[in-house]
Amino acid sequence: MTSRATRFPSAETLAAQLPTDFALGVATSAFQIEGATREGGRGASTWDVFTHQPGRIRGGATADVAADHIHRLGDDLDLVRDLGADAYRFSISWPRVQPGGSGRLNERGIAFYDQLLDRLLADGISPMATLFHWDTPLELPGGWRSRDTAQRLGELAFLLGERFGDRVDRWVTVNEPATVMLNGYALGIHAPGETLLFDALPVAHNLLLGHAYALEGLRGADVRGGVGITNVHTPTTPATSSDDDTAFAWLFDVLHNRIFADPVLLGQYPEPVDDFAAALKPLIEVDSRDLALISQPIDFYGLNYYFPTRIAAGAGRAVSPDGDSEAMASLPFHLAPWPEFATTGFGWPVAPEFLETTLAELAQRYGAALPPVFITEGGASFPESLVLDERSGERVVADPRRIDYLARHLEAALTATAPGGVAESVDLRGYFVWTLLDNFEWAAGYSQRFGLVHVDFATQERTPKDSFRWMQALAGDRRR
Ligand code: FCB
Repeated sequence: MTSRATRFPSAETLAAQLPTDFALGVATSAFQIEGATREGGRGASTWDVFTHQPGRIRGGATADVAADHIHRLGDDLDLVRDLGADAYRFSISWPRVQPGGSGRLNERGIAFYDQLLDRLLADGISPMATLFHWDTPLELPGGWRSRDTAQRLGELAFLLGERFGDRVDRWVTVNEPATVMLNGYALGIHAPGETLLFDALPVAHNLLLGHAYALEGLRGADVRGGVGITNVHTPTTPATSSDDDTAFAWLFDVLHNRIFADPVLLGQYPEPVDDFAAALKPLIEVDSRDLALISQPIDFYGLNYYFPTRIAAGAGRAVSPDGDSEAMASLPFHLAPWPEFATTGFGWPVAPEFLETTLAELAQRYGAALPPVFITEGGASFPESLVLDERSGERVVADPRRIDYLARHLEAALTATAPGGVAESVDLRGYFVWTLLDNFEWAAGYSQRFGLVHVDFATQERTPKDSFRWMQALAGDRRR
């Protein structure tokens, strides 16, 4: 990991740049914080099984306890309130509210989210609920290889829409289908651990159908809030100007970004260039009625941005940004290093200028078809530790690099979308920091800390980091 001195804008300067109705939020996901995986009638998910398989998760970690959020809801929502956040994005655990993935709802699971929503509204915080943030119920045959799972998500959406539709301001149907397909089904880094490589493409289509059925389910339940999808975008650059690097960078951009955004916003999959027509065949052959379903109008587009990607032709190391994968080494391209950028604890390049690129690409590719955008996640992992401040006797976590990351990314987003900016046509409505609490970071277990609040996983003690104070100041300054 490298560090580099940068100059980031102060909270006061940034606060002055924030449009009045811009939502400053914080995001979490159920599996990463809730724990209590065998309590309250919760069913099992593919992630429960995956985390218990030897060798899957760094340090052999599981999310059985995670940040114990189920038992600490009140304290954690105090933190959201104290942060001064306008909005809170959380996900609803499918196996907790509907064990088995079909049929009746589990009232004990529902009660938890009822409490969560009521408390947010009492505190004046706008709720954004994600329906599917990766915790697929174990019993659904074939998982996302099956279209049936998409239909089940639609049924869940209807049932949850009936229960929570009066209180949720915004619904995210599916979080990062790209990561589920690539890490879960193509490379075997995430649950369910399949290594199908290009044969994983039908999973992309099923996840998009999941979005479509969920959208219909929510609309069918007459929810009052807006509905959107969250895609993770990584702007992709060839390592050199060679034809091969350029071709594989095109392919990676398609696989990671465009096959998830184009069908939703344009009603079509990208037209493959000749070399890749065979590889992308499963998507070329889909029924046009499916595309009509998938491209039904949405109220907002959720964008997750963390880092850009540089692609080179030829096999490389078996390492992806999220973990090791033998399957990755068998691909005809690899992720090239990018030494000119500082990196996070995960090794991800810190490159706020590429958030501007991402927003410009959205503007240019989707034009008037792009609804208002929320950046539904952005943040960084750094391994800062808790220290005892001798003078005050208080526990503190100094995390200047996280503050630098957040300040510069927020500034980039605001600059790009301001009049005269490279993405001025994008109607940017908010930025959600990933994440409130240090948590279970998928294949990386507890090794990557993304939180504004430090969690001691032995005692579950919460300690707000300096970045928490920074965000508090930002929220406070803009209210002045
Ligand atoms: C995103 C995920 C989120 C978290 C961050 C670091 O890809 O949506 O759950 O793991 O990355």
